[in-house]
Amino acid sequence: MSFVFGAATAAYQIEGAWDEDGKGRSIWDAFVRVPGAIVGGDTGDEACDHYHRWRQDVALMAELGLDAYRFSISWPRVLPDGIGRVNEAGVAFYDRLVDALLESGIRPFLTLYHWDLPQVLQERGGWDAAGVDDAFAQYAALLADRLGDRVRDWITLNEPEVAAFAGHYHGVHAPGARDFALALRAADTMLRAHAKAVDALPSSMNVGIALNLSPCEGDERASRLADGYLNRWFLDAVCGRGYPADMVEWYGDAAPGPLPPMPQLGFLGVNYYYRRVVRDGPPPLGWRQVTPPGAELTEMGWEVYPKGLSDTLLRVARDYAPASLYVTESGIALPPGLDDERRVAYLESHLAVVEAARAAGAPVDGYFVWSLLDNFEWGFGRSKRFGLVEVDFATQARTSRRSGHRYAELIRAAREQEGRELPRRTGSR
Ligand code: FCB
Repeated sequence: MSFVFGAATAAYQIEGAWDEDGKGRSIWDAFVRVPGAIVGGDTGDEACDHYHRWRQDVALMAELGLDAYRFSISWPRVLPDGIGRVNEAGVAFYDRLVDALLESGIRPFLTLYHWDLPQVLQERGGWDAAGVDDAFAQYAALLADRLGDRVRDWITLNEPEVAAFAGHYHGVHAPGARDFALALRAADTMLRAHAKAVDALPSSMNVGIALNLSPCEGDERASRLADGYLNRWFLDAVCGRGYPADMVEWYGDAAPGPLPPMPQLGFLGVNYYYRRVVRDGPPPLGWRQVTPPGAELTEMGWEVYPKGLSDTLLRVARDYAPASLYVTESGIALPPGLDDERRVAYLESHLAVVEAARAAGAPVDGYFVWSLLDNFEWGFGRSKRFGLVEVDFATQARTSRRSGHRYAELIRAAREQEGRELPRRTGSR
């Protein structure tokens, strides 16, 4: 199968329509209402109004020539109580979206959980409660039943590390808790839920998980702990090795018990933004992140470091031997404006290292830009812009940036190249 060029979004960040057509509340609907939680007091109530403008957004994707679109389902839009009663209007929204994508020749990559847990489940303990993993598996089975005839590529969780630790330790994401042991338990429940969801999906489907991974460099002990915390904890877990022994020892009493056996995955998704340069730090992490001198920084304060992406892909390929890898997110926040030369350079440099990693043997099958549209960037509200397409939040007008046009050109060029290579490949068989 040929290399897939895509773009990614997430339900809460683009849909809006937060209480329309029978949708239930999510933990983000609650968290954005906590005074001071979000920069500028923004909410995702309206976001990009994608719930009403999805047709136009699919047309934009077709204009860009995307092969694939990674989006997420809002769990409380389809199951307002988290479990049981189905909100048919919510399912119908995704049903129409999937049909429109397929009609435009765009392959849907469906993420089940991009951080918007139903608030009713949070009130019963959220990711720390018994049974939430079974609820997640039932939700997965419902979607497989309704969309599985058309959607082949599934991602169970997006960035369990962020959902667990930003949400339950740093308190900067929903549900806003600040308790390290709780965060470890939440991550543990998410991993169990992931396993149950994979088992609930038909084996004919291509199922993966999207992990945020980064090379960790700097002080020897700090970088080993940071790598253990961020990369090995989750990679070892989903690849069926259990939690890494050195980290279990480091976490001591806070460490969860052993994991159940993990199902085989069709692919691993890598979300990559920056490397971690670390120094020794206080417990519970044992490391702290520093900004390397001279680094080129984005609007998020993140270092632009393409080599970190190829290092990560090669490392995952070498140490975990996945059947397939996708870069499920890669992108840059820049100031507003259509002339985003730096985003063009970012895309080119990151695609170049992906190509190099492939040439060195990493089985990378696709790349998804974060993001199709400027959107609601979690705690930063609408203040950070990642889009190939600019959104004017006053009018919801969409305009493709220079980077959008350039990405379309790169996709066209790759297709032409493939068209030239294909007959040769077929002929040699
Ligand atoms: C990732 C998230 C995504 C977006 C980007 C900038 O951690 O998965 O939703 O916020 O960061």
